[in-house]
Amino acid sequence: MIASNFYELFRKAAFHFDPELVHNAALFFLANFPQTMAQLFGRAIDDPQFITQSADGKLNWRFPIGVAAGLDKDAVALDYFDAIGFGAVEVGTVTPLPQVGNDRPRIFRHPGEQSLRNSMGFPSEGMEAVYQRVAKYNGRAALGVNIGKNKNTPIPEAFNDYLLLYKKFAPVADYIVVNLSSPNTQGLRKLQSGEYLDNLLKSLAGHKDREKTPIFIKISPDLSLEEVDHIAQRVLDFALEGIIATNTTIDHSYKIGGMSGKYLYEKSKIIRHHLLAKYGGESKMAIIGAGGFSSFADCVEFWKEGGKFIQLYTSFIYQGPPLIAAIAKELRGLKFGN
Ligand SMILES: Cc1cc2nc3c(=O)[nH]c(=O)nc-3n(C[C@H](O)[C@H](O)[C@H](O)COP(=O)(O)O)c2cc1C
Repeated sequence: MIASNFYELFRKAAFHFDPELVHNAALFFLANFPQTMAQLFGRAIDDPQFITQSADGKLNWRFPIGVAAGLDKDAVALDYFDAIGFGAVEVGTVTPLPQVGNDRPRIFRHPGEQSLRNSMGFPSEGMEAVYQRVAKYNGRAALGVNIGKNKNTPIPEAFNDYLLLYKKFAPVADYIVVNLSSPNTQGLRKLQSGEYLDNLLKSLAGHKDREKTPIFIKISPDLSLEEVDHIAQRVLDFALEGIIATNTTIDHSYKIGGMSGKYLYEKSKIIRHHLLAKYGGESKMAIIGAGGFSSFADCVEFWKEGGKFIQLYTSFIYQGPPLIAAIAKELRGLKFGN
């Protein structure tokens, strides 16, 4: 309760400033004072009954809620996110070479809809810098590394970037996410179909035989269900572990960026529902849900449909760590989810 009021005070003050400025300032404190910040703003209770495993046993989270990509792109605050009880932290999107991303401003708040809009374009310190940090991490939260191509890499050559990143991070990550769905890197979403998709998955699958680190494909909520089916079929064909559904949507009337948070929830849910109904469980494809989850009730809805793993970004900005604490409290004793 105290932590929740404290976060609310922080949020009210922070929302007077530029979102990216606040984000970077917050990350500075979370990176340098992880334990103090965890005590100040609250954390989830720990309970062995929260342990969540995929059907194939390859994904193993101590709590079914993880941090979605983009919150800690350069892996600076892993110890903090671990300390507050998340089941997983997905860093990135990481690109092979450092790059600055798109022009600022590039994060916009939509408080009326408890949503954010971003046009970041993969600002990244690059794989060498991020690798140094993730290689040192030894927390309990599973470590995901979300990978993407550099802006200057042409789409037909993108598979080289992904392969390079997979080789770099597979030995130190619990899972790798192939991000094909950011709306802010020109042409990226073309990689979700046709020959581009096949070439990419073929080269990754070839290397995966050696590393074994699970691979997830992160998809856009703006795909048709036929397009979703095509990707799911490819995931099965290449024996990859699953899909993250979904990234942000460009289905809005603003000039730039992808919308996340409550605005995205219903759209993203249609894709998740389809995937869970058709591929969840028996076919051994894990579906990680992302997109607009903002309450325990949202999580329960996903768990009831057979989903297990959930990621948050935007609701964590609006509600902070007390949301994680509240979900953990309500999850205790519940029969769904695992
Ligand atoms: C500011 C911001 C930056 C993001 N950056 C990334 C990214 O680098 N890679 C990625 O795969 N997703 C990125 N995302 C998308 C989130 O990981 C997530 O898929 C999406 O926001 C939907 O979840 P949410 O509604 O809980 O925020 C970003 C989202 C936001 C708001």
